[in-house]
Amino acid sequence: MTALFLPSLVRIGGGALNELPVALQQAGLNAPFIITDQFMVKTGVLGRVVTCLEQQGICAGSFGDAVPDPTVTSVYNALKALKSGHYDCVIGLGGGSPIDTAKMVAVLARHGSSPAVLKVPHIQNEPGLPVIAIPTTAGTGSEATKVTVITDEKTDEKMLCSGYAYLPRIAIVDYELTLTMPRRLTADTGLDALTHAIEAYVSQRASAFTDGLALSAMRRIWHALPVACSDPGNRYAREQMMQGAFEAGMAFSNASVALVHGMSRPIGAHFHVAHGLSNAMLLPEITAWSCSGAPERYAACAKIMGIASSSADETAACAALVNALRAISQELDVPAPAACGIDKERWYALIPQMAEQALASGSPADNPRVPDHSEISRLYEAIWR
Ligand SMILES: [Fe+2]
Repeated sequence: MTALFLPSLVRIGGGALNELPVALQQAGLNAPFIITDQFMVKTGVLGRVVTCLEQQGICAGSFGDAVPDPTVTSVYNALKALKSGHYDCVIGLGGGSPIDTAKMVAVLARHGSSPAVLKVPHIQNEPGLPVIAIPTTAGTGSEATKVTVITDEKTDEKMLCSGYAYLPRIAIVDYELTLTMPRRLTADTGLDALTHAIEAYVSQRASAFTDGLALSAMRRIWHALPVACSDPGNRYAREQMMQGAFEAGMAFSNASVALVHGMSRPIGAHFHVAHGLSNAMLLPEITAWSCSGAPERYAACAKIMGIASSSADETAACAALVNALRAISQELDVPAPAACGIDKERWYALIPQMAEQALASGSPADNPRVPDHSEISRLYEAIWR
């Protein structure tokens, strides 16, 4: 038996944003509160959404100060703004951070509590306010997932919060919103999406349903990501990336991520490395270490992405996959931790704590090869370079 959690109303494709008022009406919602960031405010995207709603007689409130790697303080600031009016749903507009902020605010608005109490192992199934996700990057898949990650700025811990309450009721997946993304953001968020697809496929909790989504996502992303990075206005590549990121989000939300994400979150929390970038730093080496746990699965990844021929044996296909992941990291200028300004002594000093936090997130337990504390520590050492 497989339990599946998916957004119930989806609009996908170029121009999908214009369908937001209709989708709200279909869900019986008419007083949205929009959470977004300053980039969306300054580039006029928030204004466009507000106007689109107003034209259909829907008056929205907004908070434009969501921050990257959303902190507890930023969540409470948004919650305070929401409570100053009367709203029946929360729209997250932007990359993963505004959407994750919206998810937490939607739960706190109805139930109180705090992110520290709501982090795993707690599972928040009782719904908060309905969430509408409008992603403007092709990467996090947050529009399709029942998780949110909030950073405790006092301890630098990235708190993973999970449950049905965080699953958006509506997802508006419009690739036209990604056409102006800069190269670095395209690469980082795209590599995050690729990691979601691979980890969902090799996860011990994968199912036939998530396999189909994960393989489709991998194929799309692998071919489109280099094009979207080198030719930002390429509509076909952007469309493929958006579709792939959404598929990967549905896949990992229902199959879990694994060791890459488990180890990535502490890097982001302690060293403020962008989520996609910390995944990308880990992906080739963690894949190399994990292959022996499910060689047939990793070989299938290589084959669907066209990295290995369909007749290649498992060993050759796994080796080709690891090499290709190293090559794309180089092509997209993914730095090792040593090359991005991280202090070496602090990195090594924090390894025991990062390994503990990785294990505590639960994600490594879903990896095809399950590591212990010392193995995770050695992997952190290995990627330093
Ligand atoms: Fe991710």
